[in-house]
Amino acid sequence: MPISKWPGGKRRQAGEISALLLPRLMAGAVYCEPFFGAGAVFFALRASGWEGPAVIAEAVPAQRELLALLASPFTTAPREIYERISALDAAYWAGGAGDAERSAHERKGIYLAERRSHNAREGCTAERAARWLWLLARSFSGLVRHSRAGEYNAAHGDGTGRLPRLEELQRAALALRGVIVCADWIQALEATAGRGRVIYADPPYMGTFAGYAREGWSACDRDNLSRWLRDAAGAGARVVVSEGEGAHGAYPWAAHYREVTVTYVGGGGHRGRETKEVLLWSE
Ligand SMILES: C[S@@+](CC[C@H](N)C(=O)[O-])C[C@H]1O[C@@H](n2cnc3c(N)ncnc32)[C@H](O)[C@@H]1O
Repeated sequence: MPISKWPGGKRRQAGEISALLLPRLMAGAVYCEPFFGAGAVFFALRASGWEGPAVIAEAVPAQRELLALLASPFTTAPREIYERISALDAAYWAGGAGDAERSAHERKGIYLAERRSHNAREGCTAERAARWLWLLARSFSGLVRHSRAGEYNAAHGDGTGRLPRLEELQRAALALRGVIVCADWIQALEATAGRGRVIYADPPYMGTFAGYAREGWSACDRDNLSRWLRDAAGAGARVVVSEGEGAHGAYPWAAHYREVTVTYVGGGGHRGRETKEVLLWSE
């Protein structure tokens, strides 16, 4: 299970998608997930017993830093992150005069102050990772959104977001141990080129929510990605892609595609809305 909610996250489709990936992974291929987000499919694969090597990429710097910390050999990281998240949340709910529960106005003030500390990259790596997970849980619907200047600017939520438990952080760290974490999808594809590989690509969707990272995502990016994936499939990789409705035309090399109905968990105006996506895959 991923340790946070993520806009466009594939938690509900993870079983269906991992069934298309598992047979080749179990036969020894390297796994490449170039648009990792919270990694719902990766964690589902690990839960199915796959233990092989993986290269992932994620453009949002704070998420990448969290993933790299969990993937590192610092086995105390999950506990440190957990304790820091718990302290942040305790101060968010209580600590007013006489330790009374804080008002919504005070809580919002704390959220905005932590968001400023996050954007200023204050504290050590574990502190920043904890603050990031806490912000995701206390933001409006777990929204991941950055300004053109690269500042995280999601609004304050209603406080109902779930924080990860210690065991969940420990399990995620075990699953990620040794995984190579890249900053950009091209790096992840390049790092696995020439090896027997399985690629799961879940890029931002054109026309819905594409504003996760400051760089955004354009039609030109999508066409470029499609060409890279076509070449990878041509060289024998198993390639599976999740895309927005009607986008299958951008992947003419895909041998199969299927429509799936999903409900958005984030993404501003699209939140909560039922919509269609497509799943495409090579032979
Ligand atoms: C649809 S989401 C992936 C969700 C993921 N499958 C999950 O279950 O959580 C797309 C992800 O691609 C990331 N992204 C956007 N541009 C990228 C790039 N150039 N390289 C790598 N990742 C990128 C976004 O930050 C976002 O996390």
